Amino acid sequence: MEKNIALIPGDGIGPDVVAEAVNVLNTVASKFGHKFNYETVTAGGCAIDKFGKPLPQEELDKCLKSDAVLLGAVGGPKWDNLPSELRPEKALLGLRGGMKVFANLRPAVMWKQLKDACPLKDEIVGDGLNILIVRELISGIYFGDRGTAADGKSAWDTEKYTWSEIERIVRMGFEFAQKRQKRLCVVDKANILNSSQLWRKVTESVKEDYPDVALSYLYIDNASMQLVRNPRQFDVIATSNMFGDILSDEASQITGSIGMLASASLGDGGPGLYEPIHGSAPDIAGKNLANPLATILSAAMLLRYSFGLEKEAKVIEDSVNSVLDEGYRTGDIAGSHLDELKSSGKLVGTKEMGKLVVERI
Ligand code: IPM
Ligand code: MG
Repeated sequence: MEKNIALIPGDGIGPDVVAEAVNVLNTVASKFGHKFNYETVTAGGCAIDKFGKPLPQEELDKCLKSDAVLLGAVGGPKWDNLPSELRPEKALLGLRGGMKVFANLRPAVMWKQLKDACPLKDEIVGDGLNILIVRELISGIYFGDRGTAADGKSAWDTEKYTWSEIERIVRMGFEFAQKRQKRLCVVDKANILNSSQLWRKVTESVKEDYPDVALSYLYIDNASMQLVRNPRQFDVIATSNMFGDILSDEASQITGSIGMLASASLGDGGPGLYEPIHGSAPDIAGKNLANPLATILSAAMLLRYSFGLEKEAKVIEDSVNSVLDEGYRTGDIAGSHLDELKSSGKLVGTKEMGKLVVERI
C-alpha cells in the first residue's frame, strides 16, 4: 500500500525521535512491500521562529491532506514567556481542533522489563498494568468560551459539552472495552457539574448497545485516588478533555515508563495524529540521549489505526519488546542499573536504540 505521512518533528528532542521512527517505518515498508511518502510540517516553537506563529494554515493543510500525522514534541523554555496565543501549545490545540481528532487514546502500559521503575508496591501492581484512557480532545473547557474582565480582576473558562460530542467518545470507550477486558469506567464530577450529569445521561442511553461491557462511574477525585490505590480495577476509562489530561499523566507515571508511552488521536475517518506522551526535553535535544521508543510505538499505532496494518504494527511492538528483553536501555529507563549497563555496553543512545529496533524487524 502507498500512503502519505505528515511528519511534525517539532522542538527539542522531537526531531531526534521522529528520525528513528521514520527509519522503523521505512524498514517495515520494505519488508512488507509498502511505500510511505513523507512531508515535513513545521509546527510549535520552530514555527514561531520561522513564521511568527505556532501553526500557520499551510502547515495545518499539509496535515489535513495526509493519510496520517506523526508528531515528536513541541515547546521549550525559549517560547514560555510569549502570550498564550503564540505559545507552542497552541499548535497542539490547533492541530487537534483543525484535524477534528476528537478521541485521544492513551494506553498506560507497564513494560514488564521496566517493572523496577514503577513507583507502586508489587502487591498493587501484580502482574502488570494496562489501562486505556480515552480522552475527549476537541471540546470542553479547553475549547469553551473564556475571557478576562476588563479590570483584570476576574476570569473564566467554560466547560460545555453537547450530546453528540459525549456520545462519540463514550461509544469509542465501549468499543475498545469490548476488544479488551470488557470494563469501562466513565470519570466525571456529576455530583457538581451539569456537564458531567449529561455525560452520565448519554452513557446510560447508549449502554444497552454494549451488554457485554461492565460499566461503572467514578468522580474524578475518587478516580485519581483509585488509580494509585488499585489501578488494576481499570480497563478502559472514558472522560472529558481536562479530566483526561490529568488522569493520563497520573496513569503514565504509575507505569514507570513515561518514555515508553505512545498515543493516538482519532477523528471520524480523517487522518489520525500520533505522538509520544513525553515532552520536548530541550536539555537533552540533539545529544543522542532521548528515548525514541515512545515515538516508534506511536508509529506502530499509526499503522494499526490509520492504515489497518495490524501485522506490521505488531512486528514493531515485538521488536521493541525483544530489544528490552535483551537488556538494552536508554538513560531514562536505566533506573538503578546505569553502571552495569555502561559496563555491559547496553546503555545506548537514541540512534543505537532506533537501529536495534530496525535490526529486529
Ligand atoms: C497533553 C498536554 C497538552 C494538553 C498541553 C501541552 C496543551 O498536557 O497533551 O496532555 O493539556 O492537552
Ligand atoms: Mg497533559
